[in-house]
Amino acid sequence: MRTAVVTGASRGIGSEFVVRLLEDGWRVYAGYRSDMHRLDLIENDNLSCHKLDVTCNESIKKFVESVDSSIDLLINNAGVPDGRWRNIKEIDDRWMLEVLDINSVGPVRMVKEFYDKMSHDSLTTVAMISSLMGSIDDCHSGRSYAYRASKTALNMLSVAMKKEALKDNISFLILHPGWVKTRMGGEHAPVELSDSVEGMLELIYSHSLDSSGRFVQYDGVDLPW
Ligand SMILES: NC(=O)c1ccc[n+]([C@@H]2O[C@H](COP(=O)([O-])OP(=O)(O)OC[C@H]3O[C@@H](n4cnc5c(N)ncnc54)[C@H](OP(=O)(O)O)[C@@H]3O)[C@@H](O)[C@H]2O)c1
Repeated sequence: MRTAVVTGASRGIGSEFVVRLLEDGWRVYAGYRSDMHRLDLIENDNLSCHKLDVTCNESIKKFVESVDSSIDLLINNAGVPDGRWRNIKEIDDRWMLEVLDINSVGPVRMVKEFYDKMSHDSLTTVAMISSLMGSIDDCHSGRSYAYRASKTALNMLSVAMKKEALKDNISFLILHPGWVKTRMGGEHAPVELSDSVEGMLELIYSHSLDSSGRFVQYDGVDLPW
């Protein structure tokens, strides 16, 4: 049985990944930060839920210890938006650092701590849930300073890590889920949760070592850096 880890799995995109992976016959380790939310409603022997804060090394270490096998898929999904700062003078530098800590450094901590459980003969995919807002080429409207920068940093960190991880059969896939109806995306978002996650899973299942570092949207469209 293939094993997956999902961060930020309590609600939104993370929880939908958990549901779909279980339906597809995976063993899933789901990390939740505070409340289990939707995870509480899932009854499946192949699901293990554990507390996980991606900003805390101790929390990550404990989570990794609870996973008693090697893993085939790590979905770094946990993320936060930034403040609704209307102009440069309103930027809150402390919150900016927190956004970077969660969205950019958190996934690196996860890869670091799981590295030995991902390096094996068959392929392990690390799916980074990034955003088109991290694209420098696509930054037409500006603003969302911390969120944009956090996803740009995540993209670069992923491409940099991919080089070293190729020899260990670990492949990185950088995904934009679309603008999705979740707490973060809001109710007016045009993409349904189910469509987004279904599309991203298709990309994950067909991903290979050769295409490590690809930056792609949920419907298969490659994105500019
Ligand atoms: N929705 C969109 O339109 C959209 C578009 C592009 C990219 N994305 C990306 O997709 C990912 C999921 O977003 P979403 O829309 O599903 O957001 P969401 O509904 O707000 O869910 C975010 C999840 O991340 C968790 N989380 C936040 N900080 C964490 C931390 N320090 N450690 C562990 N978990 C933490 C939250 O846990 P709590 O319940 O404890 O807060 C929650 O489970 C994010 O990386 C986001 O940037 C979303």
